[in-house]
Amino acid sequence: MTYEVRHTTEAEWRIVADTMRLALLAAPSTDADWEKPAAAESWRDGLSLSAWASGDDGERCIGHAGAFDMQMLLPGGAMVPMAGVTRVGVLPTHRRQGVLTNLMQRLLRESLAAGRPIATLRASEAVIYGRFGFQVAGEVNDIDIGSGARIAAPVAEGTLRILGRDETLERVFAIHALVGFDRPGTLSRTRWSLTRSLEAALAPDKAAYVVVHTSPDGVDDGYACYQLDWPEGHGTHTGGKCRVEDIWGASPSVELALWNYLLEIDLIDSVRAYDRPIDDPLRFALHDQRHYVVKGRRDEVWLRLLDVDAALKARTYNPAREAVTIAVSDPLFATNEGVWRVTAEGAERVAERVADRFGPADLATTINGLSGAYLGGTSWHELTVAGVVTASNDAAVRAADLLFASRPLPRCGSFF
Ligand SMILES: CC(C)(COP(=O)(O)OP(=O)(O)OC[C@H]1O[C@@H](n2cnc3c(N)ncnc32)[C@H](O)[C@@H]1OP(=O)(O)O)[C@@H](O)C(=O)NCCC(=O)NCCS
Repeated sequence: MTYEVRHTTEAEWRIVADTMRLALLAAPSTDADWEKPAAAESWRDGLSLSAWASGDDGERCIGHAGAFDMQMLLPGGAMVPMAGVTRVGVLPTHRRQGVLTNLMQRLLRESLAAGRPIATLRASEAVIYGRFGFQVAGEVNDIDIGSGARIAAPVAEGTLRILGRDETLERVFAIHALVGFDRPGTLSRTRWSLTRSLEAALAPDKAAYVVVHTSPDGVDDGYACYQLDWPEGHGTHTGGKCRVEDIWGASPSVELALWNYLLEIDLIDSVRAYDRPIDDPLRFALHDQRHYVVKGRRDEVWLRLLDVDAALKARTYNPAREAVTIAVSDPLFATNEGVWRVTAEGAERVAERVADRFGPADLATTINGLSGAYLGGTSWHELTVAGVVTASNDAAVRAADLLFASRPLPRCGSFF
């Protein structure tokens, strides 16, 4: 098969989007889909590479991979440019012929050239992205909170108000920019992405709302976006459900004040939330922690370092007397091969290339292992016992975990 990979032009967006939709088992887009302002804005954001095959019936888009321009928070507080890899798909008629490999390698190279030291994505299947250097760096829980749950912990003082439709987008945008960076892995959000995630709360006909928390000194310091469902029946006023779409606070106690509100809404029997951090402040804040039922634990942030040196220097490390040396191999970027020494003061490259897989370093890993451990959520211990990392001794693994660990645990909380 011969095909061309090129940057998608504006005139091609809809054709390419429909290729994506087909690959992801969805119906073709409608005119109404394209009339939404967020649709065009999302295609304008970042990089879009599409693959085109020629045949007797002309040219056909057979695959796509894109990357949004995003900024991610790292341990220590730095925000770094990140390629938010998205819209990955190849037509079922053209799969397993190397189209994704071609697209992804070029996408990662161009993202690096554009000054993005890291790339992250959400994976439809866990077996797809390891071959491109990605590893799970952040996980989440989907939870149910049963009837009768209440918060026992102190919650922030303040007042609550529910936003009207016309003020929702701007207010949420402003509050998220203020409070949406509570842990490594969180992202800056664009207006178009927020418009998409608030679709229900902006729609005139949905039981979806945004409640805002305001501190005693008048600052809007948190919000929760939630959807309600109540199968009203004569004389059987039970079965109300609340689905929490998005919740952020300037501190855990502000977030708990919002949870307090959600758990006390009348007629609601159960509350469901997705993408909760593994170390969710809500769990032990409940009077009875067993009301917090984990329905499933999922990988969230798949991360790949594109520029190891820049990335290791961009984050901070925990106070520790120990140092650790890490040998890295990377089949895609030779510039990422070498040995880095990490201490509490930071990271520096101490050798250009790894002489052999194990080298003289304490730890040896492919780019996958380093990418997984990078945000401090996936431990070097886990990666070593799983065979992703090779350790010369146990003390080195303990030292690496001491240096890299990050609390609270990384979580993104924004789907893209
Ligand atoms: C996943 C997808 C993009 C792969 O595209 P593709 O062009 O078939 O991938 P490639 O031919 O480049 O495959 C590269 C390698 O990955 C493997 N691979 C790719 N997708 C895989 C999958 N879903 N399951 C298992 N292995 C897979 C291939 O077997 C191949 O292995 P090899 O190098 O040992 O031969 C494509 O199958 C697809 O569009 N799937 C549905 C949509 C989807 O899930 N998109 C991802 C959204 S996050």
